[in-house]
Amino acid sequence: LIGSVGVPADKSIAHRAIILGSFAKGETRLRNFFPGADNLATVEACRMLGVEIGLEGSEGRIRGVGWEGIGEPAGVIDCGNSGTTMRLIAGVLAARPFSARLDGDSSLRRRPMARVVEPLSRMGARIEALGEGGRPPLVIHGAPLRGCHHELKIASAQVKSAILLAGLQAKGLTVVEEPAKSRDHTERMLSAFGARVAVEGRKVEIFGPQELEGTEVELVGDLSSAAFLIVAAALVPGSDLRVERVGLNPTRTGLLDLLAEMGGDLSLVRQGEVAGEPVGMVEVRSSELKGIEVGGERLLRAIDEFPILCVAASLAEGDTRITGAGELRVKESDRIAAMACELRKLGARVEELSDGLVIRGGERLRGARLESHGDHRIAMALAVAGLVARGETEVEGAEVVAVSFPGFFECLNLLSGGAVEVA
Ligand code: S3P
Repeated sequence: LIGSVGVPADKSIAHRAIILGSFAKGETRLRNFFPGADNLATVEACRMLGVEIGLEGSEGRIRGVGWEGIGEPAGVIDCGNSGTTMRLIAGVLAARPFSARLDGDSSLRRRPMARVVEPLSRMGARIEALGEGGRPPLVIHGAPLRGCHHELKIASAQVKSAILLAGLQAKGLTVVEEPAKSRDHTERMLSAFGARVAVEGRKVEIFGPQELEGTEVELVGDLSSAAFLIVAAALVPGSDLRVERVGLNPTRTGLLDLLAEMGGDLSLVRQGEVAGEPVGMVEVRSSELKGIEVGGERLLRAIDEFPILCVAASLAEGDTRITGAGELRVKESDRIAAMACELRKLGARVEELSDGLVIRGGERLRGARLESHGDHRIAMALAVAGLVARGETEVEGAEVVAVSFPGFFECLNLLSGGAVEVA
């Protein structure tokens, strides 16, 4: 893989820009917006709540309505495949004086929601989770909220953000403490929208009620999307790839550290900050990799990169042991089971643990018929595995990449000189 590429805008940051822009007062402009399906689900959700959002090319224009301007939706809000949409919008609606129903696709309907229902209920909202065991659909009966102190049992940026969005509308002090620091895009962006937020290590405090003010947000490239190309370049002999203008927020750069530890040949050029988010260029050349042990906070900083990390591990020399990854069982798919199942089809030796995987590296992978499990990151990781496997690999259900990176296969095809075919 030779060349220089940009990747679509950071999905996580874009969700927040759309939501904060929608419920701030005044206009918000988005630059470098990218229409991935998850972000479009957030746009549609905000439109259903009465916000005018214009999208033209990579520009977005949002006419913020303020908290009081949020309107009762005329129907069910469809969050599609996007957990971030459902959990963050639940935080917004917890304080509104009406009821609204949030639903999603079959993958989202399997994801746990008690983690947002419980803290938002403590603040005063009434929320019904109609699926089994606290799963979607959610019906949110908003109410006046009071600030609360929340100690989260699991580190989750979606839960933290839902609580902060509710806290902005609540009366008094809201505190969120996490067992480990999850991504901090909400905290950073709230400051850009004029909110007063205090961050101290794993603790975030907000005093409500507070209005937000519209602003201009330039979105940086998504390191989680770049990760597939970065690992592909590390694995395909003779590669030299640069990814330009990608986000380098330290809560997200775990994969770069892990890949370097595995023997990856990487260099970073930091290029300052864009809308409060560090940005830069990542250059990667192919090299021999070796297995490592990963768990805890190091994995949290690479949580969405687990599928592609597994691919790197299966081609590295020696064993890689990934533990403390139980949360990966409740992402868009059960990513632990999905990667174990698909890597085995390629001839890798994998042992499944309750909270991770042991991958015995050094096997030469051989092409196979694989399944995306309806999960965008599994589909992209498997395509990279197929690129380095001997023979042909077919990934069924690959269209799911549209969730975060429409055009991924075309990009991989261009960089690899025609090794990818989209059927
Ligand atoms: C996200 C947070 C992470 C991540 C997800 C996006 C976000 O989940 O895995 O893809 O945008 O806040 P957690 O809520 O479990 O941290």
